[in-house]
Amino acid sequence: MGTDDGSTTTAGRLAELVRRRESAHHPDDGRAVRRQHDKGKLTARERIEALLDPDSFVELDALARHRCHSFGMERERPYGDGVVTGHGTIDGRRVYLFAQDFTVFGGSLGEVYGEKIIKVMDLALRTGTPIIGINDSGGARIQEGVVSLAYYAELVKRHVQASGVIPQISLMTGPCAGGAVYAPAITDFVVMVDGISHMFVTGPEVLRTVTGQEVDRELLGGAHSHNTISGNAHHLAADEKDAFEYVRLLLGHLPSNNMTDPPVFAVSERADAAETDAALDTLIPDDRNRPYDMTQVVRAVLDDGELLEVQPLFARNIVCGFGRVDGHSVGVVANQPMQLAGVLDIDASEKAARFIRTCDAFHIPVLTFVDVPGFMPSLEQEQGGIIRRGAKLIYAYAEATVPMVTVVTRKAYGGGYGVMGSKHLGTDINLAWPTAEIAVMGGEGAVSVLHRRTLRDAADPRAERERLRAEYERTLCNPYVAAERGYIDAVILPRETRTQVVEALRALRDKRVDRLPRKHGNIPL
Ligand code: HXC
Repeated sequence: MGTDDGSTTTAGRLAELVRRRESAHHPDDGRAVRRQHDKGKLTARERIEALLDPDSFVELDALARHRCHSFGMERERPYGDGVVTGHGTIDGRRVYLFAQDFTVFGGSLGEVYGEKIIKVMDLALRTGTPIIGINDSGGARIQEGVVSLAYYAELVKRHVQASGVIPQISLMTGPCAGGAVYAPAITDFVVMVDGISHMFVTGPEVLRTVTGQEVDRELLGGAHSHNTISGNAHHLAADEKDAFEYVRLLLGHLPSNNMTDPPVFAVSERADAAETDAALDTLIPDDRNRPYDMTQVVRAVLDDGELLEVQPLFARNIVCGFGRVDGHSVGVVANQPMQLAGVLDIDASEKAARFIRTCDAFHIPVLTFVDVPGFMPSLEQEQGGIIRRGAKLIYAYAEATVPMVTVVTRKAYGGGYGVMGSKHLGTDINLAWPTAEIAVMGGEGAVSVLHRRTLRDAADPRAERERLRAEYERTLCNPYVAAERGYIDAVILPRETRTQVVEALRALRDKRVDRLPRKHGNIPL
């Protein structure tokens, strides 16, 4: 008879599995976990628990271990190898995910770790399921050398293959340095947590050594910097809980893959609907240069007034975000007159272009609200490439095949008119308020260009300028010239906006567009 040593009896074998599982759940002696908590960070497993529906997580490869035999690594082979992978549900919908475990080798990525992530990414792609990466890592595992680098490249390749096929979301909950930042950068959304997330291609130490520049981690790659200045992040979460909540809300607007539609929700009529609609009639100030908050219009149109902004702290002159109309997901793009008069600059163009392409990839109709004085006139913008980079916005609208509805509330001047979801770029239904001014430019500018000589010779140049301006504005700064030509389908009272948008989107639900075959377009980058 054999003894119960874990290898010969059934009971022993079962006990052995329990022991190994326990070890996988607690890969260190508790010190690294305490350090993680002391930094105000959750562990990989705590994060998964907080993100997913209760008890929905199914782990894969919990017993995988590295095969590295250098630098004493053979003496330390923790189960899981520093990354927890598997699938679970969010609001009942399946997602695949990986969570890097900083308590094991600093969450650094080696061969087995890479294989684990690749497995869930491949499963996600094969099954048309969103993938979420929870990043907290020292990057390529130094001991495993080039193999680590190779696996990063393998991951990046898969992110590219999955782009536009399944939603990909990156949660940054720790450091992310070197080439490792490019994997999250390729995904659809990057969520950073205030104080604990850092992303940089080269860290502060390297920067000091190479350039002599002293910059701290926060300024170089903290959550604030990437949400307000670089635009690399889409949401600044106050803490990890907030980050998980944002991801859950985000997924509620997205389909599981590009072959399905986003989930549809039941709608109940808002109690304050009549009041909210009526308030729009007095929103536009009589002084056309006075700002107003465009999100008030957006919220009046969306179900329950709920807008989930994407990049709310970056290029605030344009608002991008998800909402629902009639229970169906929509992507909103809106000029914001409260910031730089809603002008289009490089950042605003790139922010909106990327957002429109995300919507288009995932069958989310685009709803545009226009109050734009045009593109930003500036040496800095011209030298920064506003021609090439502003062209991305034109490209994004013109290539989109999802239903598109545009509402012009006030200014739609010059290039801004053409770019911001005009009929000519392919928008299906274009509405305008009576306060819309659809023209090449505003009255002041037009009079200066057209009547320079008349003004110079006038007995009272100020009075003459005023008269000419009023005449120009009366003749051209309105929605009726465009409506006469069918560039605007209907001029509507502001209070009718929600009803009109609901009907337009209902009428467009089965929109189909064929394109000529090609490998891919060549968007200016
Ligand atoms: C192996 C690593 C590691 C790494 C950290 N650790 N990074 N082990 N490979 N890349 C280990 C540490 O040795 C330590 O082990 C534990 O993780 C915790 O690290 P600390 O330094 O104590 O933590 P902290 O002070 O919070 O600093 C975190 C850090 C720092 C900023 C991430 O560890 C760091 O700078 N790491 C190196 C970052 C880096 O340059 N990576 C390569 C990037 S290039 P012990 O045993 O002491 O607990 C890259 C290429 C991608 O990733 C290629 C794409 C194509």
